[in-house]
Amino acid sequence: MKSIPFSPPFIDEDVYAEVKESLSSGWITSGPKVKALEEAVEKYTGAAACICVNSWTSGALLMLKWFGVGPGDEVIVPAYTYSATALTVLHCGATPVLVDVKDDFTIDPKKIAQVITEKTKVIMPVDIGGWLADYDSIKALVANKKHLFKPATDVQKKLGRILVLADAAHSFGSIYKGRHFNFDADIVIYSFHAVKNLTTAEGGAICINLPEVFEVQETKKYLKIFSLNGQTKDAFTKSQSGPGAWKYDIIALGHKVNMPDVCAAIGLAQLKKYDQLQQERKRVFEYYLKYFSDKKWAINPPYTGENQTSSCHLYMLIIKGIAENQRDKIMDEISKTGVSVNVHFIPLPMLTLFKKMGFDIENFPKAYDNYSREISLPVYPQLSDSDLEYICHSVSDAVEKELTLGKTSF
Ligand SMILES: Cc1ncc(COP(=O)(O)O)c(C=O)c1O
Repeated sequence: MKSIPFSPPFIDEDVYAEVKESLSSGWITSGPKVKALEEAVEKYTGAAACICVNSWTSGALLMLKWFGVGPGDEVIVPAYTYSATALTVLHCGATPVLVDVKDDFTIDPKKIAQVITEKTKVIMPVDIGGWLADYDSIKALVANKKHLFKPATDVQKKLGRILVLADAAHSFGSIYKGRHFNFDADIVIYSFHAVKNLTTAEGGAICINLPEVFEVQETKKYLKIFSLNGQTKDAFTKSQSGPGAWKYDIIALGHKVNMPDVCAAIGLAQLKKYDQLQQERKRVFEYYLKYFSDKKWAINPPYTGENQTSSCHLYMLIIKGIAENQRDKIMDEISKTGVSVNVHFIPLPMLTLFKKMGFDIENFPKAYDNYSREISLPVYPQLSDSDLEYICHSVSDAVEKELTLGKTSF
């Protein structure tokens, strides 16, 4: 029997070499490797500026605080996402307003339109599995509802409308309107967590795409300080010799969310061969697409469309006509064959914290429907064709066994 993990990191000799260089350099926290990774992300995405942090979560919290989101404010979030999207809003003392999703798992702009109020400060669409939300419609909504926006801070006054902050935790490598970047969002935050396409073990990258009134380099400089306790000089700069090099100031109530060099080294090595790694993910995705398009019970995830190509982060397979308990039985059956599968995600209104806040999954029927029939399959470059054949048969046998037992036919 094979043993196929769900999402192991891609670690090769180049990763070891880059990490070793950092370890032997005498400097392991934020310094030259982080700077190099930020520049490499800017080059790869074409974003005006990138600030690396120690997770997507801390990056989003930082940006919500920077925008001045606080008690009394509302932030629109899809009901179908990882909890962190909404937790960052709660940590600011603001209210997450949950909205149902579409068949493709992304936030439904028609539903967003119904909940925008004078309290709305931010919309956080999620690029689920690497498939981007409908930013054209979201941008149009933000423009149409501009008159409702009530700025409370200098930054909010400067923008003069709702901020669009893309939860791009899954979409580093997606192609949107011909580029490796979503130029329709104001802020794009990637996750470099261990299971993501590009990893720094834990980490994230904030990419800014703000209107010109926000001077890019000034904003980046401020955000670097804001991500380091509001301290004007990082430890690396302070450690350099020279008169007065040790002096610093604290200019804002910042957070301590900087990325260490030793982590950035992993991402740097991966980014140097990212196109090749993405090619391998595409090979896996296309194998599944071909195999499952012959199965009447399968709905494949979106891959390419008019505006975009997925980063192939997750293969979110949907099984037609099954109930949640049947999906669970299918997953148990698959796991007996040594194949690890997953569910992305348990909708927020089904989690205790959100239930206690009064959210009820009954009000998010699409999120529940998608969730109850979804199974995420392993996607990573190391999977061989023989692994893929094994996974496909394992999934197919388990689904067909359950459909026969449940007397479901197509
Ligand atoms: C959609 C989504 N948003 C946010 C996050 C949080 O990312 P991080 O673990 O880097 O904080 C994740 C992590 O899996 C995620 O899937």
